[in-house]
Amino acid sequence: MSNSTEAELIHMFKGIPFTTRSSPELLKSLDTFEAREDDVLLVSYPKSGTHWLAGVITKLYDTEVTITSPIEFGDISKLEELNNISTKRIIPTHLDYNMLPPNFKKKKCKMMYISRNPKDTAVSMYHYYRDNPNLPTVDTWAAFFDLFLKGNVVCGSWFDHFLSWEEHEDDKNILFLFYEDMKKDLPKVVKKIALFLSLNTSDKDIQDICSKSSFSEMKNDTEKENSDPSHTVCALTSNRKLIFRKGAVGDWKNHFTPKQNRRFEEIFNEKMKRSKM
Ligand code: A3P
Repeated sequence: MSNSTEAELIHMFKGIPFTTRSSPELLKSLDTFEAREDDVLLVSYPKSGTHWLAGVITKLYDTEVTITSPIEFGDISKLEELNNISTKRIIPTHLDYNMLPPNFKKKKCKMMYISRNPKDTAVSMYHYYRDNPNLPTVDTWAAFFDLFLKGNVVCGSWFDHFLSWEEHEDDKNILFLFYEDMKKDLPKVVKKIALFLSLNTSDKDIQDICSKSSFSEMKNDTEKENSDPSHTVCALTSNRKLIFRKGAVGDWKNHFTPKQNRRFEEIFNEKMKRSKM
């Protein structure tokens, strides 16, 4: 757990809390980022299954692709670093839709947005806060629960993030995916992704990709590797070992009190009034 103060770890940009791993200069310069038509974006609110999806996508390509670190991670040299990549780029990001470099929208780059039950996301994020020295200290689940509902956590409010992307759900270049669907029927979701990316993937390859993308396989792979910054697709850590915790649906039931659940539902129903989900 970190001894650094919140002020040392967090800064606000356009009303959203970012860690100091995302420099203000980089965030400001994102508006001028030059996208390429064949860039693929992998978008998520933290703890929604980003690494799982990234694992699947990289296995789907049989040509050389580079999965970059998140676009908002680093300092101003980041843009040049991305410009120097000569292969197809898969670019992760936790940015909400309104902060996305406009060039990605203009060029209609393919984007995948992965989402997860926000109750499980909150629980996963709570453990991440506790274990990750790049994030402020939280003492209890109750304290984190309040911060999450107020949007006083990195990347801001889950609700605002989700709604900013959901408004674009019908855009042909955006594919919405759900963690729970991946848990239920991974081959079906992988087929959908292959189709979206215009990849011709055989059923046998899909089966193969799914077995290599199980929670236990991915966790074991990580334990064999040394932490390598280029291996995380989360702007909040370079330590892959922090990512694979439990990999379950419904862990919120082990954390939420009945009162917290009622409060969450009330806020969910209010905030999600304009959602189609
Ligand atoms: P838990 O903390 O609930 O275990 P992200 O990659 O966006 O940071 O999300 C991390 C969450 O996805 C963690 O959730 C992690 O365990 C889970 N996860 C990662 N790989 C997974 C896989 N192959 N299958 C299921 N869940 C996975």
